[in-house]
Amino acid sequence: MNKIELPRISDPRGNLSFFEGESQIPFQIKRVYWVYDVPGGEVRGGHAFRTQQEFIICLSGSVFVNIDDGKETKQVYLCRSYYGLYVPHMHWRSFSEFSTNAVVLIAASSIYNDDDYIRDYSIFSNESK
Ligand code: TYD
Repeated sequence: MNKIELPRISDPRGNLSFFEGESQIPFQIKRVYWVYDVPGGEVRGGHAFRTQQEFIICLSGSVFVNIDDGKETKQVYLCRSYYGLYVPHMHWRSFSEFSTNAVVLIAASSIYNDDDYIRDYSIFSNESK
């Protein structure tokens, strides 16, 4: 897991940032989705992926990403649209403390596949040993 600073093209007309698969992030993007309109206090995610890698950006507002690799837990605060968090496969992750109007974008290395999800923490814990 690591935080990646993205290019910033500063411009008096407004700034621009971007990422490209296998350039700024270490996988080819197969899917992009986003989480928004999250009511205060809600927690989303709370699962791991057997093979899927992700790159998470908070495009607007702020959010905490809670990451557990089976050995230790870390919390990463995302509040700038030019920082993203790379999360490898087999990391339990959840999102919490969404600010008002937070928009969290996730670029994923695979299309949606429910079989890739591990939603039971004890199964994750066993498989990550
Ligand atoms: P999920 O990833 O389980 O989100 P969370 O862990 O925050 O609840 O997705 C919620 C629902 O959305 C789930 O029933 C499947 C559906 N979904 C798709 O159909 N396609 C997608 O790309 C994603 C991410 C979710």
